[in-house]
Order: sequence, then structure tokens, then C-alpha cells
Amino acid sequence: MENLRVPSHGGIIMDGNGRWATQRGKDRSKGHAEGSKNVEKIATHAFKLGVKTLTLYAFSSENWSRPQTEVNELMRLLKVYLKKFAKKFATKKARLVVSGDRKGLSSELVEVIEQCEKMSEDCVEYTLNIALNYGGRQEIVRAVNTLIEKGEEITVDGISSNLYTAPFGEPDLIIRTGGEYRLSNFLLFQGAYSELYFTDVLWPDFSESQFDLAIENYSRRQRRFGGV
Ligand code: FPP
Repeated sequence: MENLRVPSHGGIIMDGNGRWATQRGKDRSKGHAEGSKNVEKIATHAFKLGVKTLTLYAFSSENWSRPQTEVNELMRLLKVYLKKFAKKFATKKARLVVSGDRKGLSSELVEVIEQCEKMSEDCVEYTLNIALNYGGRQEIVRAVNTLIEKGEEITVDGISSNLYTAPFGEPDLIIRTGGEYRLSNFLLFQGAYSELYFTDVLWPDFSESQFDLAIENYSRRQRRFGGV
């Protein structure tokens, strides 16, 4: 892994938990539990390689339409794992932040999020950004409304600086696991020039060496941002 160009900000659409479980004759929720375990491993590895911010798509604005038992299990896992991550990553100089609409979340989960963000706020070397009740379109609308409320002009820079991810810069690389080739409402505005990497590997099976493959592939890309 020499001469690697490592993305400063990486995003991951962690797809394939349900299929991972179904293939093993297990309930879909078991896939989410296994996927949750994988987050710490991959985030630790990404920070070790030099990724400064990792944005993970944990629950989209549209995921509420899943069966109630699955939604409940995802919310339970988030409560458990966010606390774990905040404690664990604070020792690795990484803070935990959550991007998305908190109005739709339970008061217990909002409390956990606030505690986690507070607990790790001084750890500024790395950032684990969890996109939760997040939608890229909703984020753009929110940014535009903020500009209107402030009486500011609607510009590209204005919208950019009112996105959840404004402090971390635009994602250089977006990875999607699980074999689908779409963005599913993830980082739509800030991802305009992101490099995209798709793999068939299901999220619970996405290992450190799979992550290395994505970085090696990204390293070979020529980024032109609309230029030549
Ligand atoms: C997509 O797999 C995955 C999700 C909708 C949730 C991602 C959540 C986690 C990895 C666990 C919770 C996260 C944290 C940060 C603790 P899918 O269910 O759509 O899979 P499928 O396409 O195989 O059905």
C-alpha cells in the first residue's frame, strides 16, 4: 500500500445487511447487528490509513417504510453502538457526530446522540459522522431554508456551507457495498464530484482488505472537477 492517495473525507453506503442474514437463514435484524459490529473495524482502519472524516449512511429518511420490527431493531442498535463508538473512538482522537433530522427520532436516541457528541467533542483529529434519519434532498432543502431565514442569497457556496458536512469538506470517495449502483439520496449536493466505488461484497463481509482495494482504486483515479 505504498504511494497511496487517501481520501480526506470518505462516505460509505453500508448496503447488504438484510441479504447477508437471509443467505444464512437468519432474520434480517441479525444482518444489521453484524453490520453494526463491522463499523468499528472499518472506521478504525480508515482513520489508521489517514482518512480524516468517515460519513456512514446508517438510516435514511426513507428507511421508516421498513417493517416496524426492523426499524425498532435498527434504532436499538444505534443507541447501543453510538455510545460504544463515542467511548472507543474518543481514545483514538476521533469524535462522533450525527447528521440528519433529529425531529423524527425518539427522545432517548436524541439524548444518546447529544451525550456522544458532547463526550467526544474535543477529539478533533478524526470524525466519525453517522448519517441518521438523513436524506440528501432534505438536507439541500434545509440548507436553502436556512439561507432564506437568514435573508441570504441562495448560492452554491451558501448551500454548501449550510450542509451537515460543511465542517468536513466534500467527500472525495463514496463507497457502496452490496452490489447496487445508486446513491439512494446520500450526500447528493456535496457528492457532485466524489469518486464512486461499488462492490458486490455485502456490508457485514466488507473487510479491511476490501477497504484497501477501494482506496487503491481511488488512488488511480484522475480527478478533474469538470476541468481537463
Ligand atoms: C442496508 O442494508 C443497511 C441499512 C439500511 C442500515 C445500515 C445500518 C447498519 C450497518 C447498522 C447500524 C449502524 C450503526 C452506525 C451502528 P439492507 O438492509 O438494505 O440490506 P439488503 O439490501 O440486503 O436488504
